[in-house]
Amino acid sequence: MTDTLAHPDIEQVLISSDAVQARVDELGALITGAYAGRAPILIGVLKGAVVFMTDLVRAIHLPVELDFMAVSSYGNSTETSGIVRITKDLDATIEGRDVLLVEDIVDSGMTLKYLRQYLERRDPASLRICTLLDKQVVRKADVTVEYTGFQIPDRFVVGYGLDYAERYRNLPYIGILKKSVYGG
Ligand code: IMP
Ligand code: MG
Repeated sequence: MTDTLAHPDIEQVLISSDAVQARVDELGALITGAYAGRAPILIGVLKGAVVFMTDLVRAIHLPVELDFMAVSSYGNSTETSGIVRITKDLDATIEGRDVLLVEDIVDSGMTLKYLRQYLERRDPASLRICTLLDKQVVRKADVTVEYTGFQIPDRFVVGYGLDYAERYRNLPYIGILKKSVYGG
């Protein structure tokens, strides 16, 4: 499927839905190989990671469990506030489990740095991070990410789960949002 009819608020389709799906399949294969013989628990960070996670789990051929956390750090702005607050904690116990944290995007890295420390304190057998997108150039916090879908430039993107003010999560591609939409 091509994305010729991009949403009018999208300046440019950065990653087509075909390219996203192909990369998700690759990540699924990598994770399937890395965790062979084990039953990892995937923790999705609500809400941005939901679309990615639902595709990713279907590309992982292992007995997996799913759990979710919600954090708030951005409000409705396009700039990070630097403050991370957990608004929904885990349902499951992760002590002794192989945990794979699934995120939509690493920007400053502050959210993931905080979550990595928070989860480490619960004594998982292992903890790795899988992110669909990485804006490595703007990294402020030092955080290790084991699986990355795409490195992207420092532009505000939406689609495939990523939002601006809760909108655009349902676009099937990753697109650069027009600055006029957020008054930038
Ligand atoms: P960090 O703590 O700065 O790494 O922020 C990560 C979070 O900021 C992500 O989980 C997203 O919710 C949000 N975010 C960062 N960049 C973007 C973007 O380009 N589009 C949409 N959300 C973003
Ligand atoms: Mg997020």
